[in-house]
Amino acid sequence: MLTDETIRAALPHTLDEVSLPGLGDPIRGKVRDSFVRGTERVIVVTDRISAFDVVLGTIPFKGQVLNQMAAHWFRRTGHIAPNHLLDTPDPAVSLCTNCRPMPVEMVVRAYLTGSTSTSIWKAYEGGARTFCGHELPEGMRQHQRLERPIVTPSTKAEKGDHDESVSREELLRRTDLSAAQFDEMAEYAMALFLFGTEQAAARGLILVDTKYEFGLSPEGKIMLIDEVHTPDSSRYWYADDYQDRFEAGENPRSLDKELVRRALMEQGYSGDGPPPPLSDDLRVEAARRYAELLSVVTGVDFEGDTSDPIPRISAALGL
Ligand SMILES: Nc1ncnc2c1ncn2[C@@H]1O[C@H](COP(=O)(O)OP(=O)(O)O)[C@@H](O)[C@H]1O
Ligand SMILES: [Mg+2]
Repeated sequence: MLTDETIRAALPHTLDEVSLPGLGDPIRGKVRDSFVRGTERVIVVTDRISAFDVVLGTIPFKGQVLNQMAAHWFRRTGHIAPNHLLDTPDPAVSLCTNCRPMPVEMVVRAYLTGSTSTSIWKAYEGGARTFCGHELPEGMRQHQRLERPIVTPSTKAEKGDHDESVSREELLRRTDLSAAQFDEMAEYAMALFLFGTEQAAARGLILVDTKYEFGLSPEGKIMLIDEVHTPDSSRYWYADDYQDRFEAGENPRSLDKELVRRALMEQGYSGDGPPPPLSDDLRVEAARRYAELLSVVTGVDFEGDTSDPIPRISAALGL
């Protein structure tokens, strides 16, 4: 188990922007820096944390936790949907099939919740009674379970812009995706979500909602890419006190970046302009929660590799 001392000591050595001599220019996402090597893609999961579509700073060990959790689920869901993972040469690195990303985020939601502008709760609170083409009954409350999980596609906004939740029809109008491609992804997404829900339940957790990305492999096969059932792509709540808290009108206890999101919202930040700096206490608490989530979700205790990340990764990749 990671101690607070270990986390605190790691605060100045987090994995931020990665350059790896010998691998060429990185493609920088908000959280991952990747390098294309032939038909493969080396994905370094950094310690950057993003919320509201903005990078907020770094959380110690977050990259290792996220990478290990994604690998755990990629390895256990290959029978449900083909995926990009080939190997994990380092705790923070995945070697993947390089794909052409599909222009959609396949979001699956089982609860009326969320805090960002694309969330189903914000829409419902604002009076919407259909969301991405799904009808929602009157009289629902925040954090209430939906009658059944629904697929709510989201557009991939350009950098700096915010994603938008749209219906299947709207998405097909706006992109070059075929209906067959969309439906194949939607089917994978729902099957993965049901599997994730069962796995979470077995460990006392609720898989609340999650986002899947798909890509086309060099052979033209639709594959799950990016990450799966990590705290960055998924919201998890503790199951044991969900009902009591819901009835009392309290927020569920969550194991994800909702902690950081809420802390910033309490400071009046909601995604516009530069974010306020994350306090060290918040970064330590967030790191503890990420590590906790890995052990709660996978049953594996998070060790955390404290060695200097860049030399370690270079060595692991034989650079
Ligand atoms: N196997 C893959 N092939 C090609 N692109 C991928 C693959 N896996 C992930 N990606 C892309 O790499 C990026 C990952 O970085 P991330 O920090 O998550 O980006 P974002 O800022 O878009 O969330 C995303 O744009 C994702 O679509
Ligand atoms: Mg991403």
